[in-house]
Amino acid sequence: MSFALDLVIIGGCGHAGLPLGVAFAESGLSVRLLDVNSSAIESVNQGSPPFREPGIEASLRRCLTQGRLAATDDPGVIASAETVVVCLATAIDEHLNPDPNRFLSTIEGFGDRFVDGQLLVLRSTVFPGVTRLVEERIALTGKAVDVAFCPERIAEGNAMSELRELPEVIGARTPAASARADALFRHLTHETQHVSPEEAELAKLFSNSWRYLKFAIANQLFMIANDFGLDYERIRNAAGYKYPRASDLPSAGFAAGPCLFKDTMQLAAFNNNNFMLGHSGMLINEGLPVYLLTRLSQRFDLAKMTVGILGMAFKAESDDVRSSLSYKLKRILQVRAAEVLCTDPYVETDPDLAPLEDVLARAELLIIAAPHRVYADIVSTAPVVDIWNLRGDGVRV
Ligand SMILES: NC(=O)c1ccc[n+]([C@@H]2O[C@H](COP(=O)([O-])OP(=O)(O)OC[C@H]3O[C@@H](n4cnc5c(N)ncnc54)[C@H](O)[C@@H]3O)[C@@H](O)[C@H]2O)c1
Repeated sequence: MSFALDLVIIGGCGHAGLPLGVAFAESGLSVRLLDVNSSAIESVNQGSPPFREPGIEASLRRCLTQGRLAATDDPGVIASAETVVVCLATAIDEHLNPDPNRFLSTIEGFGDRFVDGQLLVLRSTVFPGVTRLVEERIALTGKAVDVAFCPERIAEGNAMSELRELPEVIGARTPAASARADALFRHLTHETQHVSPEEAELAKLFSNSWRYLKFAIANQLFMIANDFGLDYERIRNAAGYKYPRASDLPSAGFAAGPCLFKDTMQLAAFNNNNFMLGHSGMLINEGLPVYLLTRLSQRFDLAKMTVGILGMAFKAESDDVRSSLSYKLKRILQVRAAEVLCTDPYVETDPDLAPLEDVLARAELLIIAAPHRVYADIVSTAPVVDIWNLRGDGVRV
């Protein structure tokens, strides 16, 4: 069977889908990005990525010019592609529960578009067992479609290099699906690891939970040191210097964003809500803004002060505000402080942000919430709270 296109990515204009689509198109494949976000589609087709991802823009423009890549809202493209990759979001709800049905029903909605001979790759971080459910639902349609789960493992901001550097985890139940997914990802990487879909689903959730817990232990150790009047960074440096068993202890800081928290909660839900460390880590990481403000309230009369928050993205050098703890900090400060001013050099989606100069001129206390490099050198007479130690002045609060 011959197909007009190599690849369609559902959710192709998102943070995972777009870098992947651009990387595959750069490798010579013909790719279509299927999405429902019309402004993102327009922006991609004009060669302008709808979010910040270093290194993507030149590649995107090259692929558009050479006709290997385009974004569309027409689901009709699905039937013309040999491989369909799903990069839809997999959020948790307000009760911290995953909603696999939403993901499944979106795929089912495309069910009559699939055709015999296709490979369907699930790339989203799914609730364990979802790959099997997709396989079963595809089988019910009677179509001969191979299914594989190949988790996206990039970190935002490093996508364009990591897509080519990271080994690919391939979770497939049949030799055919395994071989086809392998051949696909060999366009990007020379190393693949083959496991079952369930092992691949857990490999992804274990990785993100592990990372989230590393940040949690760092944040808890920071709080312990700080409560004893000691500087966590000095201790961390002493512990890790030429001592590999402690050198991977992270700095303190807001551990947030659209993946780590969500995936730790997905793993907890999968294990019947029995993931004590995961839930404890969540309480520590999500509690850090409250801890900071409790400590600051002991030193400052916040109710009479204008407080400036520097960095609203969930991490350094990013414009992504999804699940950013900067906004939790802001909401609490709006109750406790006289005034709150927020700024970020990258975030363009928040109309309430002020220019950095205004915040520096007016704030009586500054908190670095996202460690964008630009904040390392700010000059201010106001005290600067820097739990990341971006400025190298220590992290005591
Ligand atoms: N963001 C990352 O760096 C990253 C890294 C690893 C894994 N992941 C995982 O990848 C998945 C996607 O995350 P994301 O950050 O890219 O989310 P995202 O919200 O940035 O992207 C999802 C895209 O899907 C589109 N979409 C929604 N409904 C659609 C539909 N019915 N048809 C077509 N398109 C539709 C949205 O418009 C959006 O562009 C998640 O499971 C996430 O956990 C993300």
